[in-house]
Amino acid sequence: MDLSGKVAVVTGGSRGIGKAVCLRLASLGATVIINYVSRSDAADAVAKEVEGAGGKAGVYRFNVADSAAVTEAFKSILADHGRIDILVNNAGITRDGLFMKMKESDWDDVLNVNLKGAYNCIKAVNRPMMKQRSGSIISITSVIGFAGNAGQANYSAAKAGLIGLTRSLAKELASRNITVNGVAPGYIDTDMTRDLPDAVKDIILNEIPMKTMGSPEDIAGAVAFLASDDARYITGQFIHVNGGMYMG
Ligand code: NAI
Repeated sequence: MDLSGKVAVVTGGSRGIGKAVCLRLASLGATVIINYVSRSDAADAVAKEVEGAGGKAGVYRFNVADSAAVTEAFKSILADHGRIDILVNNAGITRDGLFMKMKESDWDDVLNVNLKGAYNCIKAVNRPMMKQRSGSIISITSVIGFAGNAGQANYSAAKAGLIGLTRSLAKELASRNITVNGVAPGYIDTDMTRDLPDAVKDIILNEIPMKTMGSPEDIAGAVAFLASDDARYITGQFIHVNGGMYMG
């Protein structure tokens, strides 16, 4: 797979899955734009790692949930790099709890980052990608968006929303040679899952036929494939990377 000459924006690219995606896309030749919201040192460290391996990177701070900030940031990215070929909507948060106790702010925060954040970023690349008549939009959804999960109604709704958004945009943008796909991770070993109590981890592992959590690199491989020319005729699809726990 060769992504040289392509510019990729990865939201939430400073750690976990986003970081692995940045490193993988850069290793295939893409210039990676690493977005972060709160830790510039972590984002800078990813950029250094990319550059240390001979790749090209840029670091941009913006909150994906803030539409004005996203519009401004993407204007700067386009001005600095000339084009955007790949958008990876990776930024995400959880605010778990049983629905009966779920605060409205927990609902809003999760929907605003995971779903509205993707809307904001896609809106910002839509026109430039249509003009250049090419592009690849990849959103990180979740097994929970397909299967649901007690205690994650907000997250599940946001991730299911991403699935509908992906399928609809795939139909709208196909004639412009823009593909819109998703990757649906199962349980991946990152900060998001690291603090789960051991008892919960045991229950999860029991549900996974491969009996182990996935790694961020497992997701990066699927994203890289969808971003590459090898996937040029694939749109509106989801790659499930979950050790067999859900077969959608
Ligand atoms: P993580 O918590 O390590 O990374 C999330 C990243 O998103 C962080 O860099 C964070 O700073 C960034 N972020 C959060 N809010 C943001 C905002 N408003 N604007 C910009 N960036 C923001 O978690 P992880 O596991 O790497 O998650 C990455 C994606 O994968 C998320 O969308 C998550 O929902 C999804 N996912 C993760 C799974 C897992 O088991 N770890 C399973 C299924 C999906």
